[in-house]
Amino acid sequence: MSYERGTAIEWVPGHGFDQRSYDERLAFFLEMKRPMTPGVVRKVAPPDLQDPKVQEEVDESKRNILKLMAIGGLAAVAAGGAVGAALQYVQPPMQGLASYPRVQLLYSDGTPVQVGNIDSHIDPTSTDAFLFQYPLDGEPNFLLNLQGKYGKPPSALGPTPGGNFVVAYSAICQHLGCIPPFLSFYPSNVAEQCQYNGGAPFLHCVCHGSTYDPYVQSNVSGGGANILTGPTVSPLPQVILDTDTSGNIFAVKNIGPDVKGHFQTLLGGNPGPVPAPLAKTSVPPYGTSGSTQRCP
Ligand code: FES
Repeated sequence: MSYERGTAIEWVPGHGFDQRSYDERLAFFLEMKRPMTPGVVRKVAPPDLQDPKVQEEVDESKRNILKLMAIGGLAAVAAGGAVGAALQYVQPPMQGLASYPRVQLLYSDGTPVQVGNIDSHIDPTSTDAFLFQYPLDGEPNFLLNLQGKYGKPPSALGPTPGGNFVVAYSAICQHLGCIPPFLSFYPSNVAEQCQYNGGAPFLHCVCHGSTYDPYVQSNVSGGGANILTGPTVSPLPQVILDTDTSGNIFAVKNIGPDVKGHFQTLLGGNPGPVPAPLAKTSVPPYGTSGSTQRCP
């Protein structure tokens, strides 16, 4: 593993990073938080604390953390001589993952998600979103049950008893990172009302208008849901699904670009829940009061 400046970080939990000083880790964290340019791979250099600019950022961040502690009544902890421990606590731990885990998907009541039972849980004509976190905590993904009459999506499971196909995509817009309900699923009836995509279902982000086709694999960035309209220049990362001999569904890896906000999909956060439960997000149907859905 190399920590030379200018190289991409290859950090494996427990191998070097944990032994670094608090200032070095804080500088690294600040570097990772910088905004990313869509479609541009950014190499993250390890911190150089000899650089006055880096040291000033670290000092400023520490001052801000201390201000927050004072506001939150944690000043007493600092006065007790536990400043270092408190700062460790405030800093996100970011354990990351060394490789993609195989994670079973469950309905919210704990029932395993299966190709054979998904039609009775996820209506392919509904705007409701069913989200699970993978591979990191707080990283939502859509689990979609797509109508088969529009074709077989790439790497889909199925057909289901109802003739649908099961796929999963990141629910973090690759433009600037909007999430559901702003990034949402438009079923065929909404696609027809919008006279968009030939009436085939799509994913649309109302933040700035990016649209993705869950039936077509992008031929750039290693796959993912194809871009129908920008401003995104990056397809929506796909979560590859697999089944066991009982038909239970598992998330096994991501393909396509790195999830928005991460310079490497497996780093920059803590591992997601295992197994991963689905959370339902209700999106009021297009045209109704309070709906976040707008035609592209
Ligand atoms: S964040 Fe989705 S289009 Fe800009």
